[in-house]
Amino acid sequence: MTASDADIDHAVEVLRRGGLVGMPTETVYGLAADASSDAAIRRIYEAKGRPSGHPVIVHVGAADLIDGWAVDVPPAARRLGEALWPGPLTLVLPRGPLASPLVSGGRDSVGIRVPDHPVALAVLERFAGAVGAPSANRFGRVSPTTAADVVDDLGDRVDVVLDGGASVVGVESTIVSFVGAPTLLRPGGVPVELIESILGGPLASAAADDRSAPGTLPSHYAPDARVELVEADEVADRCRTLLGTGSSVGALVRDDVEVPDAVVRLSSSVDEAEAARTLYARLREADRLGLDVLVAARPDLTGLGRAIADRLRRAAHRDR
Ligand code: TXA
Ligand code: MG
Repeated sequence: MTASDADIDHAVEVLRRGGLVGMPTETVYGLAADASSDAAIRRIYEAKGRPSGHPVIVHVGAADLIDGWAVDVPPAARRLGEALWPGPLTLVLPRGPLASPLVSGGRDSVGIRVPDHPVALAVLERFAGAVGAPSANRFGRVSPTTAADVVDDLGDRVDVVLDGGASVVGVESTIVSFVGAPTLLRPGGVPVELIESILGGPLASAAADDRSAPGTLPSHYAPDARVELVEADEVADRCRTLLGTGSSVGALVRDDVEVPDAVVRLSSSVDEAEAARTLYARLREADRLGLDVLVAARPDLTGLGRAIADRLRRAAHRDR
């Protein structure tokens, strides 16, 4: 059931009191708190179990509301915002006077976006302010794409969860930094190709060891099941080997990829948008089924495939 007007009003009250709201967005559900209150933002860190020093994305209701949160916004960043907001794009910009060092993880920059979801936009409009919102999962876990996922993961650590249906994009926003040359910090819901066509040139890539965006820590987005990422034509062989060791095995593959009968098939669509939309639900399903191993076929690195491959790579990395 989608949040009613009364639910939204209640959530706004909770925000005004410094509380935490599970808020649907088009990418994943966010854990929202008043961005202008350090006490409220501190509660986000506690609820997630997230180390401080990890910046939180500031969400505003429209592109022209970024000023004050950010300053010295380069024209190219404005162009991106105008073209793609509301939408799954986060811009990292020089930090303005409205953004506290806590929101920005002690940096001189702030991450900011306009979410494209009617419930989130209604919350922001009625709140008439900005909310800080990381994904509404415990630190290092798979991001939630339904209200039920948020409740499963955070329980009573969140004051209210607004139901806005399943997130339609399914992977987090693309993050582009405008501190220095335009740089891709995280592939996400807006394909890099689209951003580059609007900018009229290539984005720089953050160095592999760059820890400037904690979402880029290697072992994020991890389910309990061990994730293995292989080429599509190696999936069947790898599954057979794992079955031979007595493991319960799932395969996250497109419908046209063959897997042995004893393997639980968690289909990934040939349609890339659908594959992104269902990715986190599939990772959660692997855990619900108690699978030991999930063998995933490596997607092409174009369009949304780049974000899917990125999340699967991080899910496969285990140093937690
Ligand atoms: O789609 C999304 O972006 C979702 C929804 C809820 O909006 N939010 C999200 O937040 O993914 P979170 O906290 O899970 O990931 C935020 C990422 C982190 O990697 C963080 O480091 C980066 O954004 N970030 C935020 N502000 C930054 C800054 N000033 N400099 C560098 N990275 C920043
Ligand atoms: Mg997250």
